[in-house]
Order: sequence, then structure tokens, then C-alpha cells
Amino acid sequence: MNVKIVKRLPTPEEYNALRRSVEWPTYDSLVAELALANSLYGVVAATDDGTIAGMGRIIGDNAIYLHIQDVIVNPRFQKLGIGKLIMEALLSYINSVATTNTNVGLMSSKGRENFYKEFGFIERPNEKFGSGMIKVIS
Ligand SMILES: CC(C)(COP(=O)(O)OP(=O)(O)OC[C@H]1O[C@@H](n2cnc3c(N)ncnc32)[C@H](O)[C@@H]1OP(=O)(O)O)[C@@H](O)C(=O)NCCC(=O)NCCS
Repeated sequence: MNVKIVKRLPTPEEYNALRRSVEWPTYDSLVAELALANSLYGVVAATDDGTIAGMGRIIGDNAIYLHIQDVIVNPRFQKLGIGKLIMEALLSYINSVATTNTNVGLMSSKGRENFYKEFGFIERPNEKFGSGMIKVIS
């Protein structure tokens, strides 16, 4: 099976289907459309027959703070190197806009830290940085 990285954001339907495949909450299609449209960059991983096997996107200010979000590979296609291809494509975009001290963040899912460490990300908290924190609005 060949998989190619396509430089485009997923449609809201593709986005929700990928989220559903990894048991993440889905969003109303207008909400998903708005969120995706406000992304800085995105890629999808497409198989030979056009199936969308994965995605990743970047949000932020396009200069100082960039955040990697929604790196998802449908479990049917995991452990084939597609996640790595997605990360490489996102980091290539980031390198094209980054300047000295550009801050690239992401929130790792539990147990996926090693996947991101391979791309140079470090865990928090550490001696220098406090914890990353989030608040999810219910
Ligand atoms: C995290 C995620 C995107 C990784 O996607 P993936 O396509 O499975 O990633 P890769 O195949 O590139 O690498 C995953 C592992 O498979 C291994 N792998 C890669 N190609 C392989 C192959 N041909 N055979 C066996 N293993 C392989 C990699 O070495 C890597 O090992 P690791 O678990 O020690 O890091 C995927 O697991 C996922 O979508 N998870 C659910 C959503 C999620 O948690 N996303 C992250 C949000 S922060």
C-alpha cells in the first residue's frame, strides 16, 4: 500500500471520521469547519484508493508560537510509519516559517511521548519548565 502526504486540511467530515477512529470526541460540522479554516497548515495522508488514513495540523501565530494538533492515524493504518511522515511534513512547514526562539508546542497523548521525542520534543515538567496545563470547556 502506498501512502502519500497531501498538503491540505481534512474536510470537517474527514476530520470527525479520523477523530472517531481514535475515540476522540467529534465536533459539530460548522465548529469543525471554523477550527480547520483557522489552522495555519495541515496535511492528510491518503492511500492509493483515496482513503484518508491520517492527518496533522498546525495552529498558532505563524512566527513565534506554533502548536501541533490533531496528529491522528486511523488504527487500521497505524505502525506503518504514517505518523512519522505526517510529523515530518508538519516540521518541514514549521522550519519554513520559524525564526530564532520560535516555540513549537504539542500535547502528547498518554503513552505517545516517545513518538514525539524522536522529533526532538522534550517532556514537561523538567528542571527549567513547569507543567503544561489545559482547561477543557464542558
Ligand atoms: C500517535 C500516532 C499518530 C502514531 O501514528 P503511527 O502511524 O502509528 O506512527 P508510526 O507508524 O510512524 O510510528 C509509531 C510506531 O510504530 C513504529 N513503526 C513504524 N513503522 C513500522 C513498521 N513498518 N512496522 C512496525 N512498527 C513500525 C514506529 O517505530 C513507532 O514506534 P514507537 O511506538 O516506539 O514510537 C497514532 O498512534 C495515533 O493516531 N494515535 C491516536 C491519536 C493520538 O494519540 N495522537 C497523538 C496526539 S498527541
